[in-house]
Amino acid sequence: MKFFIDTASLTQIKEAQDLGVLDGVTTNPSLMAKEGISGDERVRQHYIDICDIVDGPVSAEVIATDFEGMVREGEALAALHPNIVVKVPMIRDGVRALKHFSSKGIRTNCTLVFSPGQALLAAKAGATYVSPFIGRLDDVSTDGVELIEKIRTIYDNYGYTTEVLAASIRHPMHIIQCAEVGADVATCPLSAILALFDHPLTTIGLEKFLADHRKAAAAKEKA
Ligand code: E4P
Repeated sequence: MKFFIDTASLTQIKEAQDLGVLDGVTTNPSLMAKEGISGDERVRQHYIDICDIVDGPVSAEVIATDFEGMVREGEALAALHPNIVVKVPMIRDGVRALKHFSSKGIRTNCTLVFSPGQALLAAKAGATYVSPFIGRLDDVSTDGVELIEKIRTIYDNYGYTTEVLAASIRHPMHIIQCAEVGADVATCPLSAILALFDHPLTTIGLEKFLADHRKAAAAKEKA
């Protein structure tokens, strides 16, 4: 399973990169705004800065919602760096744009996916990744992980190569559950990735190993 980090924060991206388990980055307009990144030039430079940190796919979202606008913006984003993946919303013109980008060999991430039917359309249009938002589904009392499972089954039934990118992850159990049902990628906040490291028995076990080692070394010194 690939791990992407879901943020536009360069500090968090660097921290995740240093863990040695990071495969890529996803951003969205809200995450860019949270970092105070606005204006075409600033936005472009920020994507390049992210690509300089992580050698993997970096999703950059188009703002336009009409086909021509999405194509124009997406082609400009893709030209910034070979790691850029153009993120396109699941709307009618978005699906047309996915088809266009796929015919040009430009990688895409279809975002804001909340149903198996939407995921099927994204795969048919040749999306590289499909992003079902599991946390937002959980927020409205719908099982987000079940959606990942359904999409996995549909893609496997027909041999679609679109990768299932579980998005809107809220906690480490989401990552585990998505891995169990076969998501190809999980894009996560840094906190969820870091939480995977922790287990009290690891902490206690390591303390004991080190204490025993110190004891043995002290005994040897005395002898
Ligand atoms: C994914 O690409 C989205 O940017 C993201 O996962 C949305 O997550 P949220 O529901 O926490 O905003």
